[in-house]
Amino acid sequence: MPLARMIDGRATAERLRRDLADEVARLKSDHGLTPGLAVVLVGDDGASQVYVRSKGEQSKAAGMHSVTHILPADTSQTELLALVRHLNGDPAIHGILVQLPLPKGLDEKAIIQAIDPDKDVDGLHVINAGRLAQGLPCLAPCTPVGCMILLRDTLGQDLSGKRAVVIGRSALVGRPVAQLLVQANCTVTIAHSHTQDLAAVCREADILVAAAGRAQMIKADWLKPGVTVIDVGTNPIPFRDPAKAAEGKTKLVGDVDYKAAREVAYAITPVPGGVGPMTVACLLVNTVTAAKRIAGI
Ligand code: GUN
Repeated sequence: MPLARMIDGRATAERLRRDLADEVARLKSDHGLTPGLAVVLVGDDGASQVYVRSKGEQSKAAGMHSVTHILPADTSQTELLALVRHLNGDPAIHGILVQLPLPKGLDEKAIIQAIDPDKDVDGLHVINAGRLAQGLPCLAPCTPVGCMILLRDTLGQDLSGKRAVVIGRSALVGRPVAQLLVQANCTVTIAHSHTQDLAAVCREADILVAAAGRAQMIKADWLKPGVTVIDVGTNPIPFRDPAKAAEGKTKLVGDVDYKAAREVAYAITPVPGGVGPMTVACLLVNTVTAAKRIAGI
């Protein structure tokens, strides 16, 4: 069997961003509307700083209005809530994203629920989760939206009747991607840490979405030949090279044993370069969607 096709998330994300820049330009010229995204970062977590910078840069590059609020780690719940409420009322802002995780002491759930659901471009508000569960128009979380775009690019628009297995049941990825797969008429199983004989469950999948957060846990012999694998995992592991490992350097791997899985699958996303780049691109898509809905376009 030939090696699995590598699903190129970088190229797809670039195409999405180009299309989006065209749409933003049209919205400006035809409707005088500039979609605006506000990103809020509390504290100085290194990884979060990188993500937040990239969100700001990419939204500006697409021609959008972009503001980043960086607050100190000792920001109080009241101060953060006040900023969210201010952004809810700001007509230049159509999307609000509070970068997670928040520093200890802040109530993440309460902050997310304070965001206006129409500006909740992360799709984490219970209103959006409820709308998604009922198949109603909503803002869906960015990574799951990115997974579905990659699947349709790979397998075609019609995913009806496919057996999909999602590993992981988080609010950010597992649950919403399962809902989107149900909407696409797939037969969906959500597996998690209590699932018995996970390997047997995985072997039923035509589509496998791995969002367990455990490095290379999914082995090639867990896969049905011809499966399409979307690997959402981003797990840092030490380099094999002892010199690099001694320096404490790490590399990123997915939840799937990529090299071995390529011998069995039809198509698979690499890590990095698969789902990751899609997340920020889909955040921009959600912001444009939110702006158009708010403006009644
Ligand atoms: N931290 C890691 N991923 C995400 C995300 O998709 N949204 C938010 N708000 N924080 C994150």
